[in-house]
Amino acid sequence: MIILGIESSCDESAAAVLEGPRQVLSNVVSSQIDLHGPYGGVVPEIACREHVRALPPVIEQALGQAGKQWKDIDAIAVTAGPGLAGSLLVGWSTARALSRRLSIPCFSINHLHGHMFSAFLTPGSPPPEETCPFVSLIVSGGHTCLVRVDAPGKYHLLGQTIDDAAGEAFDKGANLLGLGYPGGPAMDRLASKGNPLAIRFPRGRIDKGSGAGELDPRLCFSFSGLKTSLRYHLQNHPVPEGNSRQLHDVAASYQEAIIDALVRRVSLAMQNVSTLTVGGGVCLNSRLRSVLGNSPALRGKNILLTDPAYGGDNAAMIAMMAALQPAPNPDERCDEDINPNLPVAPAG
Ligand code: KG4
Ligand code: ZN
Repeated sequence: MIILGIESSCDESAAAVLEGPRQVLSNVVSSQIDLHGPYGGVVPEIACREHVRALPPVIEQALGQAGKQWKDIDAIAVTAGPGLAGSLLVGWSTARALSRRLSIPCFSINHLHGHMFSAFLTPGSPPPEETCPFVSLIVSGGHTCLVRVDAPGKYHLLGQTIDDAAGEAFDKGANLLGLGYPGGPAMDRLASKGNPLAIRFPRGRIDKGSGAGELDPRLCFSFSGLKTSLRYHLQNHPVPEGNSRQLHDVAASYQEAIIDALVRRVSLAMQNVSTLTVGGGVCLNSRLRSVLGNSPALRGKNILLTDPAYGGDNAAMIAMMAALQPAPNPDERCDEDINPNLPVAPAG
């Protein structure tokens, strides 16, 4: 089955062609970072206008690179949420129109499920159905959660952030250090030259009854105090212009607090499960990748890190989620609606 994936939930206009279940024939991502950078974050109004401009050529490019024509496409998969309403609607209405014009099914996909399974796009990775049960860590600019996957379609939310997402913590910390937006990659580069033990920043422990709701607070995250702690640290210990050693140490210590918080929760969530998948933009972080691979608490576990090509938002992971569904129903036409607040899974 040849599936066209379409993704437009935030600030990336993306399309991909997949030969089911997991062979990526093309994966085109048009990023809007340059447009949002001057504002220090994504501006929803700009994002949806840019999707209207960028998505049609991105889709044409994905078809061209895959060497396919419209008549070759058997189904469409599109992100239905979570994300920015205006941005989601552009991809969604495009997918609906194409599915009606071509008389092919249109699958509505939860963006976060794409991140949970994106590690399986790596050639040679094991089939996802045979890898269940596994735990997935989703770490992006908008989400941070731990999900247990019992089978494709059977998911339980184990823990999530009660305030900022891990990517947001990177971006806000990088902003305080004057590193521009998005700051995750720049923080990663600076931190690689510093001492992660130079300063002890808080790890965001969550006590019972303080925002975790019905979830186990030991598996939930809190990053907003970390950013405040960095602000106070910089007030009390300003980094003198040109003192790169001090800047590297602050970046490395701040990054370490985020990575340590993530890895501790992962270790706890994995006590009875042998495989972990990691997806979302922060999974590109070099320190996270190395600590997950070397942590004594995770020794013997099977750690499937998403290939950097599929770590950030992309449409190949959306197309793959459609391929994992039971045989396509020709009446599947994305008739419901987008949901900007679509939950990843029920708690459990
Ligand atoms: O998944 P993604 O591309 O978009 C969202 O759905 O949010 O994630 C973007 C986030 C940003 O916060 C960015 O700073 C972060 O991923 N990021 C990183 C790195 N590369 C991207 N954070 C830390 N280290 C990196 N190397
Ligand atoms: Zn994402």
